[in-house]
Amino acid sequence: MNWRNVNKLSEGVYWVGARDWNRRLFDALIPLPKGTSYNAYLVVGEEKKALIDTVNPGFETELEEKIRKIMDPAEIDYLVMNHAEPDHAGAIPFVTGLSDKARLVATEKGVKMSQVFYNVPGEKAKAVRDGETIDLGGKTLRFIEAPMLHWPETMFTYLEEDGILFPCDFFGSHLAKATYDDEVEDLLVDAQRYWGEIMMPFSGMAKRSLDKIKDLKINMIAPSHGPIYRSPQRIRNAYSKWANGETKQKAIIIYVSMWKSTEKMVQVMSDTLSSEGIEIALYNLASSDLGDLAKDLVDSRAIVLGAPTVLGGAHPLAVYATYLVKALKPPLKYAAVLSSYGWGGVVSRQVQETLGSSKIEIIGALEVNGPPKEGDISRIVELGRALAGKIKAG
Ligand code: FEO
Repeated sequence: MNWRNVNKLSEGVYWVGARDWNRRLFDALIPLPKGTSYNAYLVVGEEKKALIDTVNPGFETELEEKIRKIMDPAEIDYLVMNHAEPDHAGAIPFVTGLSDKARLVATEKGVKMSQVFYNVPGEKAKAVRDGETIDLGGKTLRFIEAPMLHWPETMFTYLEEDGILFPCDFFGSHLAKATYDDEVEDLLVDAQRYWGEIMMPFSGMAKRSLDKIKDLKINMIAPSHGPIYRSPQRIRNAYSKWANGETKQKAIIIYVSMWKSTEKMVQVMSDTLSSEGIEIALYNLASSDLGDLAKDLVDSRAIVLGAPTVLGGAHPLAVYATYLVKALKPPLKYAAVLSSYGWGGVVSRQVQETLGSSKIEIIGALEVNGPPKEGDISRIVELGRALAGKIKAG
């Protein structure tokens, strides 16, 4: 008995993906507290059939069983690869093994990557140009190049008759549960976290791709992770805001403390900013979730980094966090550094060296020997007020 569940998005369009409830880490870096899904879609035209993306290795049989609920996989004509990363393309060799006639469809770069990653022979692949279409018979697939969302070869597929956009990673969220957006109360929070982790470093490319699709009639956005948006305007608005780097009167405070001296400095800063009306997101690196931190980097205007010295330099957790902040390219405008040291202050120099080439303006750095004293606290309050002034000025 084939007990697998498939979801019908519209006539001839089906979700045949997999839910990975137990996955807890992506890229050996990103925490997935809610698991994720690998959404694959079957589009059945009057003459031809296309599978859009596949699934993560380990879910091949599930994909096959779901396709079999609709049709014989041997009848797949086109295997659209929007993105070559293995969580979506890892089952390509399996699918081509099910259908001799399946031809891989990807951007030119994607075709090359399919050869390198999945040994797809050149004659079995079709490179499509930006705007090119394939007619399946009453179902027309249009391909839209969208490089760096998330790799250089990425593209979107747009199903013209139904107004469904298949953007692969773009517009995704790491959630195993729910088929549609309206089934998740706080989906935008998950989507923001995902943007911070995956798309924020490519904001410029995201903006260009959003411009490209701005006049498309989109009834549904069917990404390859997380729920499908059947009310797509809300996520389109959010993406427009994030891609444009819109920030709030908000500061993210990221710190680590060994003997509570740096923590005390951070508390003074946090209270000062709060009293100035600045929204705060505060993370102790010893116990924080990296995804939560990425989420709050998306719309914070300023960052406060707090770290003690250890082993002759900034605490390694702070070094790691500073590097990540730089790599994720958040739209931060201002920064402040707070540090307590035992016998030599080096943290502000290290932070400045790491953030030096970014556009973040460091408003001030305070390094205190041992626990902060009354005079130090006054200086932190002063720095906090100056930072609040900058944040409020925009
Ligand atoms: Fe979901 Fe870039 O892969």
